[in-house]
Amino acid sequence: MATHTTSPKVFITGASSGLGEALARHYAAQGAILGLVGRRGDKLADLAASLPHPHAVHCYALDVRDALALRAAADDFMARHGVPDIVIANAGISHGVNTEDAADLPHFASVMDTNWMAMVATFSPFVAPMRERKHGTLVGIGSVAGVRGLPGHGAYSASKAAAMTYLESLRVELRAAKVAVVTIAPGYIRTPMTDGNPFPMPFLMPSDKFARKAAAAIARRKRFVVLPWPMGVVACVMRCLPRWLYDMLFARAPRKPRLSERQAKNSAPANAGPPPNDPSTGPN
Ligand SMILES: NC(=O)c1ccc[n+]([C@@H]2O[C@H](COP(=O)([O-])OP(=O)(O)OC[C@H]3O[C@@H](n4cnc5c(N)ncnc54)[C@H](OP(=O)(O)O)[C@@H]3O)[C@@H](O)[C@H]2O)c1
Repeated sequence: MATHTTSPKVFITGASSGLGEALARHYAAQGAILGLVGRRGDKLADLAASLPHPHAVHCYALDVRDALALRAAADDFMARHGVPDIVIANAGISHGVNTEDAADLPHFASVMDTNWMAMVATFSPFVAPMRERKHGTLVGIGSVAGVRGLPGHGAYSASKAAAMTYLESLRVELRAAKVAVVTIAPGYIRTPMTDGNPFPMPFLMPSDKFARKAAAAIARRKRFVVLPWPMGVVACVMRCLPRWLYDMLFARAPRKPRLSERQAKNSAPANAGPPPNDPSTGPN
């Protein structure tokens, strides 16, 4: 039977590293009851054990591309604690891709499934209960990379553009029900996802600072926020550039390595130096 407390209840996907982990730590420090999702159950268990109230943390080791598993986790969490106050669809992956190479087609699909479709599947079990209670905040993690199509990053840019457009639709749909939908578009945040980036990352922000700023925006039920804020200015400029100028400026932009390139680097001989910490090259 559901227990109802005054502690905030927060359900987070992609909590086993990076931004999701930082958000879990932030909300745990506020005394929250947490539902944490990720494929690496060992990482989730280690995180739970390191938090101030491990008994208030429920870990769900699952793949967010499995909508039935997500629904079972959501139902379990709600059966124990009632409807969450905040649901954060954060799980995501990022690979460079090349349309010419048929071997990359599955990577286009998995990026889209993880970054966009799984966001929909994450929210789906919670929308009706939140609507009924006229309470709750759904948070989606987009990206500045979704503002324009970045060369070599077509799968990721497309998935984040889809996610942010979907979040806007949902925000308007749920307005009358008083359920908030918050879009957070990070620029560059220091996490395992960005650790291997072979290019400069302007305004790089630590993940704990990101979590504090994101939680403040979520508490204010902001519709859309870019973090860190200077990347918001960059995003506005990017959005406004005429296509001919955008094409000229970005034609030579550095590209995210493709999955095959990262795997080759990771399997390089030991004397070539340590591989980057890159879980997105793992079980995707
Ligand atoms: N870091 C940045 O600068 C940045 C910028 C813009 C947007 N973002 C977005 O922020 C979100 C978090 O990224 P991050 O930087 O924290 O990366 P990260 O450290 O690589 O973390 C990604 C998280 O997503 C989970 N995940 C990935 N695929 C999953 C799947 N199929 N099922 C379940 N969980 C899955 C991973 O857990 P498991 O591997 O255990 O499954 C991990 O917990 C992503 O949506 C990313 O696109 C990040």
